[in-house]
Amino acid sequence: MKVLVNDKIVERESVAIDMEDRGYQFGDGVYEVVRLYNDQFFTFDEHINRLYESAAKIDLVIPYAKDVLRNLLQKLAKENNIHTGNVYLQVTRGIQIPRNHIIPDDFPLEGILTASAREVPRNEALFVEGGRAITDEDIRWLRCDIKSISLLGNILAKNKAHRAGALEAILHRGGTVTECSASNVFIVKDGVLLTHAADNLILNGITRQVIIDAAKKGGVPVEERDFSLEELKAADEVFISSTTLEVTPITQVDDSVIGNGSRGPVTKKAHELFEAEIVASCGEFVTVR
Ligand code: PDD
Repeated sequence: MKVLVNDKIVERESVAIDMEDRGYQFGDGVYEVVRLYNDQFFTFDEHINRLYESAAKIDLVIPYAKDVLRNLLQKLAKENNIHTGNVYLQVTRGIQIPRNHIIPDDFPLEGILTASAREVPRNEALFVEGGRAITDEDIRWLRCDIKSISLLGNILAKNKAHRAGALEAILHRGGTVTECSASNVFIVKDGVLLTHAADNLILNGITRQVIIDAAKKGGVPVEERDFSLEELKAADEVFISSTTLEVTPITQVDDSVIGNGSRGPVTKKAHELFEAEIVASCGEFVTVR
């Protein structure tokens, strides 16, 4: 497998990361996950813009211009023969010896970029059947809008869900639903799509944004506002969204069955609208329903 380290594509086994890299020691860095369909990146500019925005929010300089980065990632996908898959990229603040929380003024303010690419087919059965979710308190920090590689709060929640045999953990702060451990959450009530507003308490998912725009254009009313755990459990439909999960139905939250326990009509429509966006940008794929 070939990976990207700064601007070089090299064999994965040949890569050595310095133990005093601030990403390794402090989780000091930002990342993105971008999906490819039919050899084409989907919403690439949106992901790359968010990467630069996340970096700017922590005063980290990405060492490449966006078009250079695009070429490097395209080359990485091609060299690994990826057709439908994921590209993971991260930029850390780099090596600092000795370890010090303070970022010195004369620090070489250029991050270290690494990226990998893997073939990952669409999980079409999951997109139809969905799964269960648990709820969990959102114990993360207050800058969830930054796609930081520091993900302890997220992984603890995800792991709790996994141990409970659930697909995701839907997080809440004092009873107000925010998002999930690695995805955004939407509910449907009386035909209206509801999701938390894009503020500091959630990551403004690219999938979320595509769904909101496509739903509005497709005649589905959308409201970006707070909703409670009670509203979540009493919703007609619940679904989660992310680059890899697309639009995945949630059929049960804790002990509450949602709707009739299977994918609802608005969730189906949201996914169809989302798929239409993929097809428009990356070409047709065969979909099993
Ligand atoms: N996760 N919220 C959180 C906390 C996330 O980690 C993600 C994505 C999302 C959805 O964002 P997007 O639609 O841009 O993928 C929301 C990625 C896929 C991950 O960490 O693997």
